[in-house]
Amino acid sequence: MCAGRSWSCARSSHSIRICRDRHDVIDMIIDGKALAADVEAETARRVKKLAQKGILPGLATVLVGENPASQMYIRLKHSACARVGIRSENVVLPDSSTEVDLIAKIQELNRRPDINGILLQLPLPKGLSPQKAMMSILPEKDVDGFHPVNMGALLLGAERLVPCTPRGIIFALERLGKKLEGAEAVIVGHSNVVGKPLAAMLLNRNATVQVCHVFTRDLAEHTKDAEILIVAAGVPALIKKEMVRPGAIVFDVGINRVGDKTVGDVDFDNVKDIASAITPVPGGVGPLTVAMLLSQTVNATESQAW
Ligand code: GUN
Repeated sequence: MCAGRSWSCARSSHSIRICRDRHDVIDMIIDGKALAADVEAETARRVKKLAQKGILPGLATVLVGENPASQMYIRLKHSACARVGIRSENVVLPDSSTEVDLIAKIQELNRRPDINGILLQLPLPKGLSPQKAMMSILPEKDVDGFHPVNMGALLLGAERLVPCTPRGIIFALERLGKKLEGAEAVIVGHSNVVGKPLAAMLLNRNATVQVCHVFTRDLAEHTKDAEILIVAAGVPALIKKEMVRPGAIVFDVGINRVGDKTVGDVDFDNVKDIASAITPVPGGVGPLTVAMLLSQTVNATESQAW
């Protein structure tokens, strides 16, 4: 608990409660659901504005196979679309689908003017290349930001549609008022979905970025440097208190099932005592990712409309 001043973020009374002590240390649990609710409210306003021009944003998700976790994420994405007024449909293809089947379906969605965004749920069943499938999505409909054109633009510092989890993390940092210029950021995990694009987004904002991964020799040596620590490794409780710099802002992207519990990649109960701000699992980065998908679907719709 903080003994010092406490106030709420200007735009939301509940999503960011920042308590500062005499040392200017933020002491809080980042409420991803409340932040996501703010993004959804703003997105719903933008959807209404488009409706006045006769435009209704449409999102198509494509799910190949019957992965239960993917089915759950797809359900969450569609209920979120319904909350903000985005029309959405889910295309389900069988496990046995070939690359040709999948690309043909994506091309059909590319041609439809009522579909502004296409999301191909990952992972794909064995034998299907996510890269090839992603490349068949029109870059302007690529609401996941995974197409090489969008990834390339991101790397060049000209962000267009960008991956949703990194965008959610940058949004939360901005809401926290964290100055990114010159900040020491450490990312654990170098995936195409989170680690690599997030590194580019932080570099675009002039942070100093280290990216660690499964081959990093001494992980703690790097994580202890982090003012901002983002963990997306898929290893339960990988990050212990001793590995965290006092006052760090910690984002836990992990979603791991341990017994009947969902846990992150950070040993939350102990790390929360040393971090100045930390996302819980569940209820942290996950809801923000979904909210960013909605926002990007509206971004895509707007740029297709002009
Ligand atoms: N699977 C895990 N995360 C993601 C994501 O952000 N987008 C898609 N399409 N699939 C995922």
